[in-house]
Amino acid sequence: MFLFEKIKVKLAKKLGLGSLARKKAGNYSITGANLKAASDNNIYPEYALKAALDLRTFSNFRQNPHYTPILEHVRKSQALAYLDLIKNEHGMSAPDILEIIEPLQQIGNPKKVMLDGLDFPVSTTALRYLYVALDIRQRCGDRVPIVAEIGCGYGGQAVILSRLIDIDKYYFLDLWQVNMLIQRFIESVDINFAYETLTLKQIEKEIRSDMIISNYAFSELPRKIQQPYFDKIIKSSDHGYMTMNSGVDGVYEGVAGFDQRELQSMIKNAVVTEEKPNTSEKNYIISW
Ligand SMILES: C[S@@+](CC[C@H](N)C(=O)[O-])C[C@H]1O[C@@H](n2cnc3c(N)ncnc32)[C@H](O)[C@@H]1O
Repeated sequence: MFLFEKIKVKLAKKLGLGSLARKKAGNYSITGANLKAASDNNIYPEYALKAALDLRTFSNFRQNPHYTPILEHVRKSQALAYLDLIKNEHGMSAPDILEIIEPLQQIGNPKKVMLDGLDFPVSTTALRYLYVALDIRQRCGDRVPIVAEIGCGYGGQAVILSRLIDIDKYYFLDLWQVNMLIQRFIESVDINFAYETLTLKQIEKEIRSDMIISNYAFSELPRKIQQPYFDKIIKSSDHGYMTMNSGVDGVYEGVAGFDQRELQSMIKNAVVTEEKPNTSEKNYIISW
C-alpha cells in the first residue's frame, strides 16, 4: 500500500470509519460505493479459489469461517421448517430425501445436524436446496432443457435440481474464482447434464435459457451489474425463479438494485410470492 493510502486508513480508523479502513485494507467489499455484491469481497472469492486449487482446503471448505458467512449458514430451526415442508407439501419420505441429497452430504465436509423426523444427520443447506428444487419443479414441471443460474455458490442447487428435473445444459454464472470451485465440486459429483461456467464479462451477447434461477444472489448485486444480467439472460428466459433478499425497496446491505415494482414491470408475467419458510423479513420470490 502506498504511504498516502496507509495514512488514509490510519486516519479512517482514528475517526471510527471502520468500513473505510477495511475497504482500504482490502479485506471487505466496497459495497458502500455500490459497485459489487457484498460477497464480492476479497476474502470469500479468494478462499473459494483456494478451495478449488487445494484438495485439503476443498475437503473442508463448507465449514470454513471464510466461507460460511456467505453460504452454508442455514440454521437448525430453518432446516426443521424446510423438512416439514418437504414432507408435508411434497410427501417425501426420509429415505427419498437421503437419496436425493446424498452428494451434498459429504463433499466439502458440511456441518450436519440431527433433526426430529430424520434418523440420519443432515446438511441443513442440502435441505434448503431440496425444498427450492421441489418448489421449482412444482412451478415449471420435470423437464427444463436449458437452465442458467446467477450466483451459484458451489453448485449445490444445480446438483439437487438435476436429480428432480431433466436438464440438458446448465450455465453457472458467478465470479471467476467461485466458478473454479463450482467446477471442482461438479466434477466430483455424478451429474447428468452438460455445463459451462461463465462470468458476466465472458458472456458474449446473450444466453438463451428456458429457466433462470438466482437465489439470494441477483438481489445482492448493484443495479449496475443487475442490468447487464437482465439484458443478457433474464429478459429472454421463458421462466424464472429468484429468491430476493433485497426487499420491496431493492436494497441489500446498502447495495441498491432494482426494486420490486421495477422488476415486475421489466419481467413479463412475473409473480411475487412469499419465501417459504420465511428466513428473513425482507425476502420474497419472484417467478414467471
Ligand atoms: C449468498 S450467495 C448465494 C448462493 C446460492 N445461490 C445459494 O442459494 O446458496 C451469493 C452468490 O452470488 C455470487 N456473486 C457475487 N457477485 C457476483 C457477480 N457479480 N455475478 C454473479 N454472481 C455473483 C457469490 O459468489 C455467491 O455464489
